[in-house]
Amino acid sequence: MPASSLEQIVSLAKRRGFVFPSSAVYGGLGSTWDYGPLGVELKNNVKRAWWRSVVYDREDMEGLDAAILMNRLVWRYSGHEKTFSDPMTDCRNCKSRPRADHVFASQKGRDPKGLDEINAAITAKELSCPKCGAKDLTEARPFNLMFRTTVGAVDTGDDSGLAYLRPETAQGIFVNFGNVLDTMRRKLPFGVAQIGKAFRNEITPGNFTFRTREFEQMEIEYFVRPGEDEAAHQAWIDARMQWYVDLGMRRDNIRQREQAKEELAHYAKRCVDLEYRFPMGWSELEGIANRTDFDLKAHSRSPENPDAVGELTYFDQEQKQHIVPYVIEPSAGADRATLAFLCDAYDESLVKEPGAEDVGKLRELVQSFAKSVDKRDAKQMEPETKARLLAASEKILAGLPGTLPDLLALSDDADANRIEVFKKVRGVSEKMGEEFTRTVLRLHPRLAPITVAVFPLKKNEPRLVELARGIKKSLQSAGLRAVYDDTGAIGKLYRRQDEIGTPFCITVDFQSLEDQTVTVRDRDTMTQQRAGAAELPSVLRAKVA
Ligand code: GAP
Repeated sequence: MPASSLEQIVSLAKRRGFVFPSSAVYGGLGSTWDYGPLGVELKNNVKRAWWRSVVYDREDMEGLDAAILMNRLVWRYSGHEKTFSDPMTDCRNCKSRPRADHVFASQKGRDPKGLDEINAAITAKELSCPKCGAKDLTEARPFNLMFRTTVGAVDTGDDSGLAYLRPETAQGIFVNFGNVLDTMRRKLPFGVAQIGKAFRNEITPGNFTFRTREFEQMEIEYFVRPGEDEAAHQAWIDARMQWYVDLGMRRDNIRQREQAKEELAHYAKRCVDLEYRFPMGWSELEGIANRTDFDLKAHSRSPENPDAVGELTYFDQEQKQHIVPYVIEPSAGADRATLAFLCDAYDESLVKEPGAEDVGKLRELVQSFAKSVDKRDAKQMEPETKARLLAASEKILAGLPGTLPDLLALSDDADANRIEVFKKVRGVSEKMGEEFTRTVLRLHPRLAPITVAVFPLKKNEPRLVELARGIKKSLQSAGLRAVYDDTGAIGKLYRRQDEIGTPFCITVDFQSLEDQTVTVRDRDTMTQQRAGAAELPSVLRAKVA
């Protein structure tokens, strides 16, 4: 059963060391997250798989790692200073500051055509504050999403030291186009790939790591002859979609969405989004845009740009003239891809039927929880929350014991936990969950934070411990992420590794001492096979290659 809510993923991520709220010791900083010991491995594996696919496995790509801080003029001529903004309005009554285009869209049932149309509707008192309902909104103004900072030790008080934290990695590639072309002697078509941090002062961050103010992008700028851009665009759309599928993402959880003309960024001729079916609904995973020759032209010396030192062009041997290449840009988020892989891999199921008495007890508890929710009036609980909790209880009651995983998911719901009787429900369901359910992250072996865990059958048998530790070491030396664990019974250790997505577990037992064979247990099939310890590095490497 996949995750029915993002809370289940957030809860597992915190509990098992994938992602922690940032600066938690000081109460946190909204929508910022730290990747823990397993999260950093997972995200690194996602980035490594991307780099391998778009740089090493192709003949037409180079890599780059440009600085985050760039000359401010980059952002002036790229158009970001002028256009990289969201329209904001202030409510004079409750002092909230909603996004004006969202207010327009939700109250008019369609997207606005521009700032003028939003402001006409505000002036005509057609729009109201989504928080307090007052029709007292100020004129909408663009709010630039770029983070500002000052370069140098002295803050002069003016903008002379102004720099931005880059809002996309792409510009670092455009301004290095000439350097890569000259040093690598490339011919069109070719591309440049880059992974790095980007920053946006998002108005509405949220949904865990889906939208944050600091995030990591995996971007490609692929340079082609004008006229060859449309075919190259389609080829990249197909290749990028296939990348997710090859790494185990279910095809019916990814779809392509053509951006409407009004949605297109100022530089794009066409853009197709790859969307993933996240627990909160279909949302963008990656955008693949045709940026035309906009950026290379924008950073070339011209009457419009007297600040550039030269021209970003390509000498076409066939045409014997300089041309400005077109650019196809597959732009993915490393955090978003990591979150999507986590969601896709999550699987919770009932592995053993609990007895009728246990089920009866649980049913009674869920019924009294539902009654308690039903009694709440609008002051005690938002009507939407009440309806959601009642619907969840009804669904759970209709399907027990099969819906035990849904009940466990409810344990991660902050609203459910506010109801006193839920503490009991939680206690009983978690105990039953331990015994009857299994949570598995079915991550592709190439992405799993740990590839193989090695256990001795008995931790107080030095010969088993020594052999198990030796096997762990040999696997790690073979380039496989391996861990040794002897902190529980084998069944419990398997469960722990299942929950973090470890595809292979190895148990060293007394037979191992005699014939140097071990048990290899497969996460997905749960089958166990004996294999020679000496062959393990090559056998397992083949599985993650
Ligand atoms: N250079 C083009 C560009 O930046 P974008 O659609 O704004 O295009 C590309 O961003 C990708 O970067 C998105 O598809 C998403 O995966 C990721 N991304 C953008 N904003 C993000 C945010 N605030 N938090 C996390 N990821 C984000």
